[in-house]
Parts: sequence; C-alpha cells; structure tokens
Amino acid sequence: MAIFIDTGNIAEIRKFMKMGILRGVTTNPSILLKDGLTGGLPEIKKRTLEIAKLIHPYPLSVEVTTNDKDKMLEQARNLASWTDNIAVKITIHGPEGEMHNLEVIHTLEHQFNIRVNVTAMMSAQQCLLAAFAGATYVSLFCGRVNNMGYNCIDELRKTRKLLDQFNLKSKIIAASTREVLNVVEWFEAGAHIVTILPPLLEGMLVHPYSKETVKQFLRDAQKSEQIAIRKSAEEIIEMPIESLKNDSVSVRL
Ligand code: E4P
Repeated sequence: MAIFIDTGNIAEIRKFMKMGILRGVTTNPSILLKDGLTGGLPEIKKRTLEIAKLIHPYPLSVEVTTNDKDKMLEQARNLASWTDNIAVKITIHGPEGEMHNLEVIHTLEHQFNIRVNVTAMMSAQQCLLAAFAGATYVSLFCGRVNNMGYNCIDELRKTRKLLDQFNLKSKIIAASTREVLNVVEWFEAGAHIVTILPPLLEGMLVHPYSKETVKQFLRDAQKSEQIAIRKSAEEIIEMPIESLKNDSVSVRL
C-alpha cells in the first residue's frame, strides 16, 4: 500500500517527500493548469523533470495531451524517454468513447515496455479491461464515482477481487480524493495506492485533540523545569553561609 500525491506543485511535493510518506506523484493537464503551468509540452517537460528528479526512483504519472492514436503513441514514447521514473497516463477511451486507447495502452506496455497508468475510469469493468490490456496502474476516479451517486467502495472491492482472481499485475490507484477519510476507507476496500490532494494529506495528519495534547505536554515540561530551578534556588538559600564560602559561591541573602 502506498500514498501518492495528486499535484504538480513542487513545494508541496518537496514538503511531503521530506516526511518520507510519499511513494509517487500523479498529475494531469487540469492539475498542472491549476498549479499555474501554461505553455504546452515544453513547460510540461520542465516541470516533469523537476518533479521526477525530486521523487526518484518513485514514479511520476504524466498524461498525454492528445487522443489521436498515432500522436498518443508518439507522445507517450517521448514522455517516457525523458527519465526512467515516468508512467504515462492514457485515458480508458477517447472523449466520444473512441476505443483505440486500449490498443495504445497494450502496445506501450508490451511492445515498448512503457509503464502505463490508465486513467479517468469510473467502474470495475473498465479497470478489468485496462488490466487485461497490460496496464501497470488502473486509476479509479472514486470521488467522481461517488459524485455520480454510486458507491466507489463497491467498485474498488470488485476491482481488487478481479485483479487477484485473474492474477493480473495492475495496481489500483484510487484517485479523485474529496475527503480526508477517503484514504483509509479506500485502502480498506482494496486500493493498492491512494493518490491524495495536499490539503487532505495535511488534514489526515493534524488533529485538534493531538494539538491540545501536545500543548499539555509542552506546558508540563516547562512547569517541571521551573519547579526544578525553584527547588535548587531554595536549597542554595538554605545552605549555611560557611559552606557557600567554601564552594566559592556568592549569594545575596
Ligand atoms: C489522478 O491521477 C487523477 O488525475 C485525479 O485524482 C483526478 O481528480 P479529480 O476528479 O479531482 O479531477
């Protein structure tokens, strides 16, 4: 089980990498745009290389920006050549349900040995087909599934059961987080990986009652120090003048 972070923001990635809790990063064109990245592929390349270096050898998922079959193949091969820890994201099908994406996924994995993260999936049946095609990662958009009025927990359970039953290598990435509690719930339901937004990761970590408890510990540590200082001052005051002279300690009584 592993946590990936769902962002293209370098400062956020660096912050959580230093804590030792991340095992990968996922991005997509919308995330990169939201993080202020404009300028197309050359800019994507710069940001990708920066993130990939920062998290190496953990994987960084980067999505192709076209749904044309040949261009997808060409772009995916190009993305994968930038550095050795890139997984190429390909959507399960095109914007109008075009089905050549699975062929691209299969070709990239089997012919070119490129790791593919199949993305934008809403059901166990889509994940199963992506896994049969050879995907390294199958991304189930759990938050979006819930938003449609279905329970993503059922889809996660079914997906995990099928992958195990058919001994398929694909790892499930539960994506599209919306709430702090998603992470534990989705792991429990069978996700191998959950990719999470930075503010939710902070929400997982920081608890108001932990803050209160830490404050109490620090307060009491300070009190105990002050008590010790007061006690030794009292001991000095109570010492006979002669012994203070011998120890060459001078005190004002
Ligand atoms: C991750 O790989 C996905 O691209 C991401 O979690 C999608 O999230 P969204 O539903 O918030 O767009």
